[in-house]
Formats: sequence, structure tokens, C-alpha cells
Amino acid sequence: MKESNSIVNNYRSSGKPQAQALPVEPAKITHNLLFLQKFFRHGTRIASVWPSSRFMARASISHADFSSARCIVELGAGTGPITSEIVKRLDARTQFLALERDPDFVQVLHNRFSASANMRILQADVGHLDSILSDQGIAPHGVDCFVSGLGTASLPESVRNAMFGAVKKYLRPDGFFSNITEVPLYYLNFYKSIFEHVSFQFVALNMPPGGVYHCRGIR
Ligand SMILES: C[S@@+](CC[C@H](N)C(=O)[O-])C[C@H]1O[C@@H](n2cnc3c(N)ncnc32)[C@H](O)[C@@H]1O
Repeated sequence: MKESNSIVNNYRSSGKPQAQALPVEPAKITHNLLFLQKFFRHGTRIASVWPSSRFMARASISHADFSSARCIVELGAGTGPITSEIVKRLDARTQFLALERDPDFVQVLHNRFSASANMRILQADVGHLDSILSDQGIAPHGVDCFVSGLGTASLPESVRNAMFGAVKKYLRPDGFFSNITEVPLYYLNFYKSIFEHVSFQFVALNMPPGGVYHCRGIR
């Protein structure tokens, strides 16, 4: 997967457990304006007018156990609101991959998180998730959490099928998948058709208000 190697940050696949004080560059208004501009240019490919609020970002990782997780994969990281919350909680033994397709967003991620240990930022399309994870040395059932910021239900069907095929292959049996949404509950049946256990957490403090699907037991 050539794209997946285009930007790689200070990455360690293993290391001694240590308390991390990871430098995270705060989000800037210019990041938000870039996001808005991308939305007007690309619409549903970006799937949102504004980056997730910190309330949405925290909700999306509220089911993650950062002390036991050893591999976390973020899909559609954008300008990094969820990435930031993950990095702040990341254990030094945990491998973290953040995927984003848009090169300008990848550059923002690179600027904000370039000093973060045990993290890789990959410019890649989730349609190639299987080969991306394989290239990164992730074993089948080696991912504890997939945290998705994608407009998953509206991805092209072939991309969505390839992505969920890879999620099924790499997610631990007790692992979870979360997905933010700005259309509360609308896609509940969609996620229930893919996972055995799905719950929905409403998030009012977001622009616009939305929520998170928390999913376990991929079918
Ligand atoms: C709704 S935005 C969410 C961004 C960020 N996670 C947040 O919460 O603000 C969706 C993101 O997914 C990215 N994206 C859309 N389709 C993608 C694909 N096929 N592969 C990788 N990233 C994709 C978009 O570029 C965009 O940054």
C-alpha cells in the first residue's frame, strides 16, 4: 500500500511502559476554516461542515480501555479532534494508527501530532484498510478499537464493504468499533445489520448535534 507510507511520524511498535506527556498542538481556527472549505468543495466526501467538538470526540472513545488496549486505529481523522483525545490518553505500549485520505488534513495532523510517540499518521483510503493494516504488521484480531470519524453509511458500497471486511478480520473478538454521526439514530439499523451489539450515545454539544454508535460483535 504505497499511500500508507507517505507520512509516518515518530513511530515505535514497542517500548517500555512509561508515563507520556505527549505534546499536542491545539486545534486552530484555521483548521476549522480549512474543514469548512473542504466541505464546500467536496461535500459528502468530507461528510461534515465542522470538526467534531471535544464532547463528540470524548464520546467516541468513551468505551475504550486505554490501559489494556494495545492497538487503536482511527479512520477518517480529519484535522484531529478525536486524534487529540486519543493521543492524550495513549499508553506508551499502545500502537496508534490514524488514517486520513485528504492530504491537507494529513499535513495538519502531522503538524499537530508530529512529536507523539508510538503513533503513525497514514495518508490512505479506508477502502485499502486490509493491506494498510497488513503493511503495518498488524495481526488478524490484533486491533482493540476502531474509532471512526467517517460518514460510513454513505461511503461508496465497495469501499464500505472492503472496510468492514478488514474490520472483521482485524478486530479482536472483544474489541469495539465506534462511529460518530450528525444524524442521531438514523443509521441504527445499518449498524445493527453489521454488529450484534449496538448502542447510541447522543451528543448535544457538537455542531450540529449528533452522537456516537458504539458497536461490538461484528457479524
Ligand atoms: C466527518 S469528517 C470527520 C473528521 C474528524 N474525525 C472529526 O471528527 O472532526 C470525515 C473524515 O473522513 C475522511 N474520509 C472520507 N472518506 C475517506 C476514505 N475513503 N478514506 C479515508 N478517509 C476518508 C474525510 O476526508 C474527513 O476528514
